[in-house]
Amino acid sequence: MEYQAKELFAKHGVPVTMGVVVENPEDAHDAAYRLGGRVVIKAQVQAGGRGKAGGVKLAESPEEAVAKAGEILGMDIKGHTVRRVLVAPTADIAEEYYFSYLVDRTNRRYLCIASTEGGVEIEVTAHENPDAVAQVTIDPLVGVDDAKAREIVEATGFPAEVADEAVGVIQKLWTVFTEEDASLVEVNPLVRLGDGHLDALDGKVTLDDNAGFRHTDHAAFEDRAAAAPLEAQATAKGLNYVKLDGEVGIIGNGAGLVMSTLDVVAYAGEQHGGVRPANFLDIGGGASAEVMADGLHIILSDPQVQSVFVNVFGGITACDAVANGIVNALQLLGDEANKPLVVRLDGNNVDEGRRILDEAHHPLVTLADTMDGGADRAAELAAAAAAAPERT
Ligand SMILES: Nc1ncnc2c1ncn2[C@@H]1O[C@H](COP(=O)(O)OP(=O)(O)OP(=O)(O)O)[C@@H](O)[C@H]1O
Ligand SMILES: [Mg+2]
Repeated sequence: MEYQAKELFAKHGVPVTMGVVVENPEDAHDAAYRLGGRVVIKAQVQAGGRGKAGGVKLAESPEEAVAKAGEILGMDIKGHTVRRVLVAPTADIAEEYYFSYLVDRTNRRYLCIASTEGGVEIEVTAHENPDAVAQVTIDPLVGVDDAKAREIVEATGFPAEVADEAVGVIQKLWTVFTEEDASLVEVNPLVRLGDGHLDALDGKVTLDDNAGFRHTDHAAFEDRAAAAPLEAQATAKGLNYVKLDGEVGIIGNGAGLVMSTLDVVAYAGEQHGGVRPANFLDIGGGASAEVMADGLHIILSDPQVQSVFVNVFGGITACDAVANGIVNALQLLGDEANKPLVVRLDGNNVDEGRRILDEAHHPLVTLADTMDGGADRAAELAAAAAAAPERT
């Protein structure tokens, strides 16, 4: 969120005007009063386009700040409920620029995207006036030294009077990017104030989870209230789970296989009244009974789920281990396992895996020979359950 990005900016010496974060309208009064009365109230959510959605409003007085904070708090912006607003001092803006660092995977480099036409959506500027958007490649082994910063300033066309200061700010933003292990640092707008100085008026930072162990302070940035409860549970169990909107629960191993499974289930679902995948869940390499039980537990906790499709390709963890995992997981879950399960196994030791599931004779489990066949069966079962009257 913006205020968190600004905390990171301040930590590394990037010029920002912090303001005060409040969670209820009444607190905006005091904050606005202390900031001089005239303030900007800004929704704090993990989404862009807040201004357009009505989440950024000017208030002329502490009383108006309370009213505007009241309007913005509780607002929904792209599926995010606004629980906090930033009460920020109004800036005397002379010019608005766009600035960002990101990972350029295709070229195995970092990339700086910058423009002197900031403030608005950079995608629009890039589309309508591509020449106004500079893209400067950064060699990860060199980073943004003085020469690179000057190259960026030149390519962007920052006016001469802010050029020197920009060189410094750009290097400090680079420090944020590298030292915080970010995959995105975006400032839109970076402004030139009336007094000629630069100020990061808005900020977005994406932090790389994989580097979380190096940054114990990053955990505090997590918005636990915003994470869906099932997703939070899955994260706690170390599972890669994303809740979707459909009826067919999906378990697979390997992100690629799970993504393809979502596709075939969505496709098969079109033949069965439009049922769709209920989630993405990659149980990764080890399909032990415990991991399988954790995965099934989370999927079956989703009240929308009507059937589950387990699609596993046995590799290092062979199909017999996966089959045992499923059988034991169903035992562990007991009555909680109450939705039909379609299982498709392939790969290492597939025959033994199928034999184990056959012999277990679990009433909820159906074996499928192929991925398409399994997807079709799971979609059919989900459609049938959705059509049937609710059992009590
Ligand atoms: N403190 C401030 N003082 C004066 N004007 C401001 C202030 N904060 C924002 N603005 C104005 O509002 C515009 C939008 O603000 P901001 O960039 O923070 O939100 P946004 O771009 O709508 O949100 P998002 O980054 O989510 O897309 C800015 O371009 C700027 O013109
Ligand atoms: Mg912005």
